[in-house]
Amino acid sequence: MPQAESARSNPMCCQLLLTQDTANVIIHKSCLLVVYRLFFHPLSHYPGPKLAAITNWYPAFLAWRGDLHLKNLEWHEKYGDIVRSAPNTLYFNDSHAMVSDIYSTRANVCKVDAWAIYSASRRSPNTLSVVDKDIHAFKRRTLATAFSDRARLLSEDMDKKAGNWSPGINMVAINNWLIFDLIGDIIYGRSFQMLDSPSKRWIPPIYIKMSRRGMTPKIYKCKLDQIFLAPMYKDIWSAGTWVRERVKDRMDMGESVEEKDLFSIMAEAKDKKRNREYSLKDIWTESMLLLAAGTDTTSTTMSALFFYLCHDLDALSRVTGEVRAIFDNEDEICAGPKLNACQFLQACVNEAMRLVPGVPNASPRRVLAGGQFVDGKHIPEGTTVASSLYVLFRKAEYFKNPDDFWPQRWIVAPETGVIEESVNLAKKVFCPFSIGPRSCIGWKLAWIELNWALARTVFLYDMRLAPGAQCCLDNKVGKKCHFNFKSFSIATPVSELVVQFRKRKPLA
Ligand code: HEM
Repeated sequence: MPQAESARSNPMCCQLLLTQDTANVIIHKSCLLVVYRLFFHPLSHYPGPKLAAITNWYPAFLAWRGDLHLKNLEWHEKYGDIVRSAPNTLYFNDSHAMVSDIYSTRANVCKVDAWAIYSASRRSPNTLSVVDKDIHAFKRRTLATAFSDRARLLSEDMDKKAGNWSPGINMVAINNWLIFDLIGDIIYGRSFQMLDSPSKRWIPPIYIKMSRRGMTPKIYKCKLDQIFLAPMYKDIWSAGTWVRERVKDRMDMGESVEEKDLFSIMAEAKDKKRNREYSLKDIWTESMLLLAAGTDTTSTTMSALFFYLCHDLDALSRVTGEVRAIFDNEDEICAGPKLNACQFLQACVNEAMRLVPGVPNASPRRVLAGGQFVDGKHIPEGTTVASSLYVLFRKAEYFKNPDDFWPQRWIVAPETGVIEESVNLAKKVFCPFSIGPRSCIGWKLAWIELNWALARTVFLYDMRLAPGAQCCLDNKVGKKCHFNFKSFSIATPVSELVVQFRKRKPLA
């Protein structure tokens, strides 16, 4: 006792004791929190990995690594259709939960605050990140005007060399530049010309960093992002500045663009009832979003599409035959009845989006006051609920041999044994652009881009995987190769896809 008293009278010891006291309190509180989350939390009876039930940092770590979609699949295989994937989060793997309960218009949910990270400014949310339903409705109406019928398409793509096979072309990069150019045209009335010139090709890799940054909402919320993400912020700021300059350039162009671009639509939009309009900053944050949401999603899907076709010669030959039989010349290839008649081509696009959904991770929603029934269970207010498209689209109950690229599954045909019932079921579950009030606004554009790019390519060219593809070399057991990707906010290819082209023989 006298020893303790003398320790307290010494300022150094006093400080040490205080620190020890604080540490004791923290350890004590943490233990209580762990016990509470494991045994007394309202979600404690739902199955799932214990570490995920204890701390948000575990799923956050998986998300940062880009593997959350794979882990999520593993969890659902182990624990069933409902998994507690974080202390306050439930993941569902069931079509009814996805289509009717969580994402539909009538669901009693809203976006979680964590979406704030998807806007370039904390004070100016964009269409994707905004939580307030009225502001969202205004922003979405504005974009909808722009995207309703603007599925305009790519101008010229690959070098037209007749005769011999071209040198290998990395389709992952080409697709990225192509889609960026197109989106530039739609937003600012002029292409970025990444296909033609290398000067702006530094932009797309930064968007991948932004997509990864999107997986760190907790760090962002605590305003620690500028410390922990400092190495990537330099690049992200350069991209932000570059987009701001494009917005200014576009302002200087005034009314001189031929067709109304997205910029003019946003600049003119007014919500008279609530006295709302777009500030320049809003246009900037919206542009940053559209460059992310409209590019990597589509270009990754396009790369997956080419990947699987180059690995499946029967499917490649069938889609080539179909397109060459339907179209008489390349100028005919545009959105319309002939493209819609390419049934096998559409099946290939569906299959690529099924295996590699552009947004593979579960999009979280917060249950509002009064709770929400999901999958027949009453979920309390404040819980985060979500469903991952990647996991749902790999469920054998809906898709036979779910890991296989098999476009035939989308077409009723006695010779393949595909019956109407299974096609209908697949179509019911399949929603790569999500559903409901927060579903993808650019789906029509993306769908036509994908169909058009494939139709045009196989109409004009023969294509093949360049010899020595790494995926095939690594594949020692003779299994089918799979398109490898990381699941950040958007699916991101891990490897190059090197393809060779040869101009098709002239039409007879
Ligand atoms: C294959 C391509 C694409 C896929 C797979 C895709 C997928 C999705 C998905 C799943 C969502 C819902 C996210 C959520 O639950 O919150 C979404 C939202 C969105 N997408 Fe896409 N997308 C694609 C292309 C595009 C394009 C081309 C654009 C525009 C240029 C675009 C713009 C948006 C926007 C603005 C939202 C937010 C909508 C809202 O919250 O109201 N997307 N997309």
